[in-house]
Amino acid sequence: MQFEVLAKCPTTRARVSRMKLHHGTAMLPTFMPVATQAAIKGLTPQQVESLGVNLILNNTYHLNLRPGIDVLKEIGGAHRFQGWPHNLLTDSGGFQLVSLSKFTKITEEGALFASPFTGEPTMLTPEESISIQHSIGADIIMQLDDVVSSLTVGPRVGEAMWRTIRWLDRCIDHHLKSGKADVQNLFAIVQGGLDPDLRDQCLEEMIKRKDKVAGYAIGGLSGGEEKDTDVFWRMIKQCADKLPEDRPRYSMGIGFAEDLLVCVALGVDMADCVFPTRTARFGVALTFKGPLNIRLSKYAADLSPIDETCPCPTCAGGMSKAMLHHTVTLETAGAHALTQHNIVFQARLMGGARDAIMNGTFPEYLKRFFANYFGDRG
Ligand code: GUN
Ligand code: ZN
Repeated sequence: MQFEVLAKCPTTRARVSRMKLHHGTAMLPTFMPVATQAAIKGLTPQQVESLGVNLILNNTYHLNLRPGIDVLKEIGGAHRFQGWPHNLLTDSGGFQLVSLSKFTKITEEGALFASPFTGEPTMLTPEESISIQHSIGADIIMQLDDVVSSLTVGPRVGEAMWRTIRWLDRCIDHHLKSGKADVQNLFAIVQGGLDPDLRDQCLEEMIKRKDKVAGYAIGGLSGGEEKDTDVFWRMIKQCADKLPEDRPRYSMGIGFAEDLLVCVALGVDMADCVFPTRTARFGVALTFKGPLNIRLSKYAADLSPIDETCPCPTCAGGMSKAMLHHTVTLETAGAHALTQHNIVFQARLMGGARDAIMNGTFPEYLKRFFANYFGDRG
C-alpha cells in the first residue's frame, strides 16, 4: 500500500490522506459501508458502485460460512464473486467473539464457534482467519483479535489484550509467509478495553511491529451497549495520538455522524458501522439537520425530498417523503431508497470533512455541522 498524508488541520489532529490499494485509490478520512454477506443489505454491488463508494467491508466469518471458501477459491476471490472492481476490507471474525459470544469459546489456539447451521464446533485460528482472508482476496485484511465487550472489567480485559498481541504475531508470520503481502495489507487491532494502561501497553507492543503491518485499527469500543462518551473519546484520543503518523488509523464500528467527526478531529482516517444502513431499514433518513424518522405520520403528505441538496438517486430522483413514508412500512423499495440515501449522506459528511481540512476550514465545518445537526429544527 502507498499511504501519503496530504494535509493537516493546524488546530485539531484531523488530516487528509491518500491510500493506494490494489483496486484503486481511497481518499481518507472515509466511511466504509458494511456488506457483511458480500452485499449491503437491499442493494446490489453495482448500485453501491453507482453511489460513488470505492471501499466496502466484508466479513470473514460470514463469507466462510456462505458461499464458503471452496466457492471463493474456485471463483478467484470476493471481488469477482461480487462483481466489485473496487477496494474491499475484510474483518477477521474477531468481533463475532462478542456478537456471537453465546456460541463461542476462546482458547489460546483460537476461537471455537458453534456452526449456526449444524451446531458443530469449528475452530477459527489466527492462521486460518488470514488464510480465509487470502482466499477472499481483500485489499485490507484484519488480524484475528480477542475482543471483549467494552463493559467487561477485571482480568479478562488484560488477558484478551495480551492474547491479541500473540495472535497478531501469528497473523503476521502467516501473512508474510504467504507471498500475498504485496497485494493484501494486514492491519493490527489495538485492544485493552477502557483501561489506559492496558491500551498503552498494547500500543507499545504493536508499534514495535510497525514494519510488519500496513495500518492500525482501534478495536473494542463498539460493543453495542450504551457508551460512556467521555471514556470512549479518551481511548480514541490516546490511541490516535500514539499511533504512527505514516500508517492509516481505523476506528472499528463507529458510524453516528457526530462520532465520525469527533474521530476525524482526533486523527482517525477510516471507520465502518452497520448503523447507517440498518437504521435505513428501520425507516430513518440521515440528514445534516439530524435524523428523520420517515415513519412518522407528519410525512404522510410531504412531497419534498429528504434533502433538496442531496445528489443520491432517491432525493435527486424525485422520491418524496410521502412516498418513502408509504413504502417503508409496506414493502422493501422504501428501505432500499433510504439505504442509498444514507450511504450517500455518510460519503458527503466525510467528503465535506476532507474538503474542509484541505481548505483550512475544518473547525468551521465542525461548528456548522454541530449547530445544524443538534439545532432547533423549527
Ligand atoms: N468491529 C468493531 N469492533 C471490533 C473489534 O474490536 N475487533 C474486530 N475484529 N472487529 C470489530
Ligand atoms: Zn438523498
